[in-house]
Amino acid sequence: MTNKDFKNKYGDWALITGATSGIGAELTSQIAAKGLNIVLVARKEKELTEQAAALQKRYGVKTKYISADLATAEGLEKVKQVDEKIGLLVSAAGYEVNGAFSKTPLAGELKVIQLNVVATLELCHHFSPLMVERKKGGILLIASLSGHMPNPYFSNYAGSKAYVLNLGASLYAELKPKGVDLTILSPGLTKTPMTADNGVDWSKTPMQAMEASVVAEFGLNGLGKRLLSVPGGKNKIMAFMSKHSPLAMLAKMNEKMMRKAMPPSKI
Ligand SMILES: NC(=O)c1ccc[n+]([C@@H]2O[C@H](COP(=O)([O-])OP(=O)(O)OC[C@H]3O[C@@H](n4cnc5c(N)ncnc54)[C@H](OP(=O)(O)O)[C@@H]3O)[C@@H](O)[C@H]2O)c1
Repeated sequence: MTNKDFKNKYGDWALITGATSGIGAELTSQIAAKGLNIVLVARKEKELTEQAAALQKRYGVKTKYISADLATAEGLEKVKQVDEKIGLLVSAAGYEVNGAFSKTPLAGELKVIQLNVVATLELCHHFSPLMVERKKGGILLIASLSGHMPNPYFSNYAGSKAYVLNLGASLYAELKPKGVDLTILSPGLTKTPMTADNGVDWSKTPMQAMEASVVAEFGLNGLGKRLLSVPGGKNKIMAFMSKHSPLAMLAKMNEKMMRKAMPPSKI
């Protein structure tokens, strides 16, 4: 799709959550490079201001930012009040808690649900009817390879991403005849602050982290073309295998793999 076609289909404004870091920041730059104006959403105001100014300077697009905690009802309300006509919604903000489920604090697990599940639901529920009314628009959801299979020590995170996957797949078919595209980007391990800071020794797993820019580009290219974008050959094989393997076997195999990578205090 040319940049002009992309803009016609998904312009004039894209709203991107998690726009200041990792995959969301890469998606933001790549969407601005296609000429769309951007509403950036995250919590930290300093990063939002800097990123918004950089996008304006580099791509000549208009920007606006909303500092909001999307794990709260107030934060979600702030985003829903946006005046701009949003033609493209990208829900990239996400949160993970890892470690034995018997040891993780409930507050953290609930935040995983608030951000990965409730915020995704509410943003889709708010913006998709406006797109349906205009008979055009796009939604890019970010799931995870964890959502395709059991992922012990990331159990609730895996559950939250399975929700994103199934919500997205169902909405894809509902929205397509109404002129609205939906694609799910489902990355495997990606080099971002989320994975750098989470205490897991990924070198003890067979997973190889991909660059966030490559992951973002793959997801964006899939918009309007396919329902599911799993970047990386190895990740695609894992997603395929997960559909065709006995669930209990997969769960036990992944537990063995992740046990080696987790700090002993967390298992
Ligand atoms: N990295 C991976 O290996 C990987 C793999 C598969 C899927 N994913 C998914 O990809 C998405 C992006 O992950 P990432 O690794 O790029 O994350 P990241 O680098 O940690 O960035 C997270 C972004 O979300 C914002 N954010 C976090 N909590 C928020 C909240 N409560 N309210 C509003 N904004 C919030 C952060 O900004 P503030 O801190 O300023 O709020 C930041 O902009 C997530 O959905 C994640 O689950 C990541």
